[in-house]
Amino acid sequence: MKAGYYQFTPEFGDRKKNLAAIREKLSNCRADLMILPELCTTGYQFCSTEEARDLAEEIPGGDSVRELTDIAYDNGKYIIAGIAESDGGSLYNTAVIVGPEGYIGKYRKIHLFYEENLWFTPGDDLPQVFDLDGVKVGILICFDWIFPEVFRILALEGADLIALPANLVLPYCQDAMRTRSIENKVYVAVANRTGSEERGGKDRLTFTGASRITDPKGNVIASSPVDAEDIRIVEIDIELSRNKEINEYNRVLASRRPDVYAKYPKL
Ligand code: ACM
Repeated sequence: MKAGYYQFTPEFGDRKKNLAAIREKLSNCRADLMILPELCTTGYQFCSTEEARDLAEEIPGGDSVRELTDIAYDNGKYIIAGIAESDGGSLYNTAVIVGPEGYIGKYRKIHLFYEENLWFTPGDDLPQVFDLDGVKVGILICFDWIFPEVFRILALEGADLIALPANLVLPYCQDAMRTRSIENKVYVAVANRTGSEERGGKDRLTFTGASRITDPKGNVIASSPVDAEDIRIVEIDIELSRNKEINEYNRVLASRRPDVYAKYPKL
C-alpha cells in the first residue's frame, strides 16, 4: 500500500472551498490511502457551540462524507479525514474513513484539547482497526497523541498503520510519534495542518505543520515543512509492522506483563 497525507491550510467555515482543494490535490496524487488533517472541512477555532453546530454534519449522511466518498470513488483510493460531526444534540470531533465503495467507518476523538471541551462531546468508543485490502489501519485524532494507551489498543488489535489527523498547536507530537512507532512497531502518520486562526477576539492559534510518517523502527520516512502545503506518500511494508520482535527473548507486545499491571488499579 502507498499511504500519504495532504497538509494544507483549511479556510475557516468554507466547507465547499476546502473540499474543492481536497478534490484537486487528491486527484493528482498516486496513493492508495490519503490522510487529511483534523476538522479539515470546517477549520478549528470555533467561537460558540452554535457556530460549531452550524458547521457540523451527520455522519455518514452529511455533504462532506458524500463528497469525500465521491472523491474516493473517482480516484480509487481510501481517504481518512477529520470533520465535525453532529448526532442528535451532541457534537463530536470525528474522523471518517471512506473508500471507492463508500463510507467505511468513523472514530470520535476521545481526548479533547483546550476549548474543544466547550463544544464537543468526547468519544466513548474504543478506536477501531479497519482492514484496507489487507493493511490494518487505526485512527486517532491529534491530542490523543499524548495518551500511549490508545496507540497500544490499536497495536494490540493488529494495526499496521495509525493515522493521526491533527491540528497541532504544540510542537511535541511529531517527535513523540517516533516513540509511539518504536514501542508498538507500527507506522504512524501525522497529517497536521498549517496556517493560523484568530477568531472572535481569541488568542491566535498557529498550527505547527511538520506532518510526518514514522516507520516501525522509528525512522522518519516522510517529513513536511512547518508552514507550507505539502503532500507526501510512502510505501507501507506490513512485514515490518507485523514483526514485533526486538531480539530472540523480547517482543513489544508479547513481552508485556498485563498480569503485573493489573495489580495497579489506577491504570
Ligand atoms: C488538538 O488536539 N487539536 C491539539
